[in-house]
Amino acid sequence: MLIAANWKMYKGPREARAFSEAFRAPKGVEAVICPPYVSLAATLESGHVVFAQNVHWADEGAFTGEISAPMLRELGVTGAIVGHSERRQHFGETDETVARRTLAALESGLRVIACVGESLEERETGQMELVLRIQVEAIADGVGTHSGLVLAYEPVWAIGTGKTASPEQAKEAHALIKSFLDVPVLYGGSVKPENAAELLSQPAVDGALVGGASLEVESFTAICQAAASLS
Ligand code: 13P
Repeated sequence: MLIAANWKMYKGPREARAFSEAFRAPKGVEAVICPPYVSLAATLESGHVVFAQNVHWADEGAFTGEISAPMLRELGVTGAIVGHSERRQHFGETDETVARRTLAALESGLRVIACVGESLEERETGQMELVLRIQVEAIADGVGTHSGLVLAYEPVWAIGTGKTASPEQAKEAHALIKSFLDVPVLYGGSVKPENAAELLSQPAVDGALVGGASLEVESFTAICQAAASLS
């Protein structure tokens, strides 16, 4: 089972190093840490599996502010999150750019956690299935199944809100996603030590992508332990 810590725009190198020195992944679970770019090197020092939070599709070029897959690989980074809803919402990420980033990263030998998920309005107006289909098929059309590809189902209404998808909702959405593209699917959205075991024990839930609760060693360790006890 894969449990990924998405630190978002938290933890500079000093805090990242302190966390990384204190954190030990329990046996039976693959723990991945996704720090901001400036803290990748500090997190790698303790021997953890480290992914970036984004990656560009070109190897190099005039793309101010972007980072490429070969640059990440040179540092020892082994994967990247792509298409997080915060990038889609605030930074103009589209299904097309998500697919381009995913394909290029996989071709460069990085693993990818590609994120999909519906907004509350889309869910409430009965568009969840359509939205997930469009988002997943954009990735599937470019890449298909690939051993380095994992999807993350992150309902936008559950991110940073304290609202979690019910185990039933997670089970249903994961099964739907797998019917479009049969790869492992992580759940993300207010995963906490208190709800991790129940969510992770659902069929088709293959791990978690954790935001807020991954910032403290204690809570992230507790989530990893919940996963380890299920595997
Ligand atoms: P929270 O766990 O803070 O809701 O964030 C989820 C997320 O966006 C992980 O990528």
